[in-house]
Amino acid sequence: MQSPIDVGLVGIEIYFPSTFVHQSDLEVFMKAPKGKFTVGLGQTTMACVNDREDINSISLTALNNLMKKHNIDPKQVGRLEVGTETMLDKSKSVKTVLMNLFRQSGNYDVEGITSINACYGSTNAIFNSLNWIQSKAWDGRYAIVVSSDIAVYPKGSARPTGGVGAIAMLFGPNAPVVFENVRSTFIDHTYDFYKPDPFSEYPTVDGHQSIEIYLNALRQCIATFKEKHFKLYGVRPSYSDYDYFCFHTPFSKMVQKSFFALLVEDIKEHPSRYNSELVSTLKENQYRLDAKTTKALQQTQFQGEWENKCERSLLLAKMLGNIYTGSLYNGLLSLLCDTSINLAGKKILMFSYGSGCAASLF
Ligand code: ACO
Repeated sequence: MQSPIDVGLVGIEIYFPSTFVHQSDLEVFMKAPKGKFTVGLGQTTMACVNDREDINSISLTALNNLMKKHNIDPKQVGRLEVGTETMLDKSKSVKTVLMNLFRQSGNYDVEGITSINACYGSTNAIFNSLNWIQSKAWDGRYAIVVSSDIAVYPKGSARPTGGVGAIAMLFGPNAPVVFENVRSTFIDHTYDFYKPDPFSEYPTVDGHQSIEIYLNALRQCIATFKEKHFKLYGVRPSYSDYDYFCFHTPFSKMVQKSFFALLVEDIKEHPSRYNSELVSTLKENQYRLDAKTTKALQQTQFQGEWENKCERSLLLAKMLGNIYTGSLYNGLLSLLCDTSINLAGKKILMFSYGSGCAASLF
């Protein structure tokens, strides 16, 4: 068989429920200060399922819609993986439930299973799928990754950062969205968000610690990414090499922090490429990512760049909330659906993060 070229995303589909809560209503209900969830976290609404839906049903819907809309015969699929941390059973995977859609075709030869690690599972599933298509074991068929979660938190400050969504992605050769070869990963043993109680669907979470661990993982991935890129292509990539940026989105404000964190790392490495006044302010502030640094960046062209290159990836996330494993990929979908931009020939830098912790930049 010919080696596949331009391996990547061939199709993408999302399902989200029609039920949701306005974050402004949640502020009133939770007796939070006005603006805390809408401005402070940057969220408008939060999707939630009703009692007729669960992780299996939303994943089935997304997968079914993807195959129907792209006219995919189940026999054309050789790999199906799921990324989720929403557990209905401690042993039986969501992947096996999705095989219901393959039964009639008689195709049971479908590799892949469910990957679990907080919001990172579907990134692992995607890397597995890309590796499979580029391996000698590939049999010419498509790979599909279903990335779905129902994110619910107990009473308290984390509650407004829930959400729901299921994304199904079709991978193959000759794709319109191609994945480049360089990717960096940072995996460490942390307890920022975890689910130790099998009888509760709620996580145990230290929200502020999780933000710090997320940002540390981002910085580590950036450093490794630059080194790996240099080894492969002889150049250290810079912020300006990318047209758009998507980050794992627990809430929109986190993405703004991440975008500015990435910029600060670049300014630290290449001060001569940036406005000298801005560089002095950041240097004086020891390149800390705090209110002073954020304000200094917002007073330059980077406020506009944030809006154009990154904030537009938050269209779905602002409405659905955190859909855990899918939250990075609804950022990509938001860009793909944005008719005001032409993505042809453009590069998107993607950062995936799952607590506990596993992260990748690609
Ligand atoms: N108007 C406008 N902004 C406000 C207001 C207000 N009335 N009140 C507070 N804010 C701002 C704060 O200044 C803060 O912004 P900043 O971070 O830029 O300073 C923001 O709103 C949040 O306020 P906090 O006091 O930090 O909020 P709190 O501690 O109650 O909870 C948290 C926030 C920690 C994110 C919580 O929602 C949480 O635990 N979420 C789950 C964990 C999470 O999402 N972690 C992220 C990575 S891991 C993952 O993806 C699961």
